[in-house]
Amino acid sequence: MELQGRTAIVTGGNSGIGAAIVAELGARGANVVIDYVTGAPAADALEAQVEGTGAQAITVEADVSKVADLQRLVDSALQRFGRLDVMVNNAGIETRTSVLDTTEDQYDRVLAVNLKSAFFGTQLAAKAMIASGAGGVVINVSSVHEDWPMPGNTPYCLSKGGMRMLTRTAAQELGPHRIRVVGVGPGAIATPINAATLANPDELRILDAAIPLGRMARPEEVAHVVAFLAGDGADYVTGSTFFVDGGLMHSSPGL
Ligand SMILES: NC(=O)c1ccc[n+]([C@@H]2O[C@H](COP(=O)([O-])OP(=O)(O)OC[C@H]3O[C@@H](n4cnc5c(N)ncnc54)[C@H](O)[C@@H]3O)[C@@H](O)[C@H]2O)c1
Repeated sequence: MELQGRTAIVTGGNSGIGAAIVAELGARGANVVIDYVTGAPAADALEAQVEGTGAQAITVEADVSKVADLQRLVDSALQRFGRLDVMVNNAGIETRTSVLDTTEDQYDRVLAVNLKSAFFGTQLAAKAMIASGAGGVVINVSSVHEDWPMPGNTPYCLSKGGMRMLTRTAAQELGPHRIRVVGVGPGAIATPINAATLANPDELRILDAAIPLGRMARPEEVAHVVAFLAGDGADYVTGSTFFVDGGLMHSSPGL
């Protein structure tokens, strides 16, 4: 198993893409720290699922918008498993608000959960990896919207655009420590964050038609790419984002 003996932290690890990443990393042998902020039963079920495959897992309740909580995640990995090899900054929210109607609270919350968390998650994981001398990899789950404007979802786009530059800049700084920093940019994935779209057949039909591969993705299809990037097969990969979007970002519907 290619990730046997490695330890990974997955933020927002009990739902959607994060849950699929936890399951995939565990299936490839990694021990996993499953971060959650609500939904303890789902986190516990995933812990049992990972342990059923022979790897080990723990759940840690941590709000990633708080640096002290992120530090607790890193400390938990080191205390329980003695090392940290893979940090997956996956937790994310959106407000679906525009430039004109976003409130200060909405702005602060989206930027804190999506971008501040990834910045300090990267920093704290990197410090642990440097202390171990073994290097490691940070994987930032951004979005096609790190590059592709989405009117009506401005704070989200800002946060993902920030993650893009975090990935590129931190890769430069941390490369000499043998720490890779990569981005994974999902397109439209069938998870709770898209509950409204999934519940609206007309909206879903329009979305599917805009995707060259003709459908939304399953969370597992993102997790496969994350697991590949976490492994030695990707050991010369850093500073770039890999889009898992069925061709959506570069499609030209109706043109
Ligand atoms: N689903 C998509 O189409 C899609 C597309 C592009 C990018 N993404 C990104 O993928 C990531 C995962 O989203 P998802 O689709 O699985 O949605 P989701 O709502 O299922 O998962 C989001 C996770 O983040 C957690 N979270 C929210 N606030 C948190 C906080 N303060 N501290 C810790 N955890 C917190 C939630 O509890 C949940 O576990 C997000 O960063 C999202 O922006 C999703």
